[in-house]
Amino acid sequence: MYQKKNRKAILKNISSVETYEVRHPVLRQGKTIETCYFEGDLLPESLHLGLYLENRLVGVASFLKNKHKLFLGNQSQLRGMAVLPEFQKNGFGEMLFTAGEKQLKENKTNILWFNAREIAKNFYLKQNCTVIGEPYEIKGVGMHFLMIKEFSYSL
Ligand SMILES: CC(C)(COP(=O)(O)OP(=O)(O)OC[C@H]1O[C@@H](n2cnc3c(N)ncnc32)[C@H](O)[C@@H]1OP(=O)(O)O)[C@@H](O)C(=O)NCCC(=O)NCCS
Repeated sequence: MYQKKNRKAILKNISSVETYEVRHPVLRQGKTIETCYFEGDLLPESLHLGLYLENRLVGVASFLKNKHKLFLGNQSQLRGMAVLPEFQKNGFGEMLFTAGEKQLKENKTNILWFNAREIAKNFYLKQNCTVIGEPYEIKGVGMHFLMIKEFSYSL
């Protein structure tokens, strides 16, 4: 069990391939490493964040340059949000989400959208995201919700 005291979490911008260390066991367990690749991973505008504890990568999140047909404006898609099981519920997911948001705002992103797994929906609601429409099934992965977070800017 993870002991929080005396351990400092460090956030870094990393490459998409570095995220596989967490994407694979958390989101693609039992599947080939190639399944960890997401379309848009390698675009120069895509952002990958890693959370380290004493040099160990324990959480990742990717903010990919990808448009959703329902939305207008400068968009990003959140993918690969994952924290290793033994480190979950310690605030690391929130740290990754908040750090991503900060960088998206610096780039004047209008909307962050994503397909949220049903089990993670309440985590995203806590990050003030909104569900759009009805849940839907993604084959082999389960029920999902389209969720968004909108950003506005004063002139
Ligand atoms: C979803 C996930 C990234 C959240 O990361 P985390 O580090 O465990 O989350 P945090 O500790 O930062 O949680 C922030 C808040 O959300 C809550 N929360 C976290 N995961 C939750 C969940 N699955 N359901 C409900 N609430 C959750 C926490 O209790 C906390 O609430 P609090 O501030 O009131 O205490 C992590 O649980 C995970 O990797 N899950 C498996 C992979 C997955 O489903 N990824 C999402 C794909 S869409």
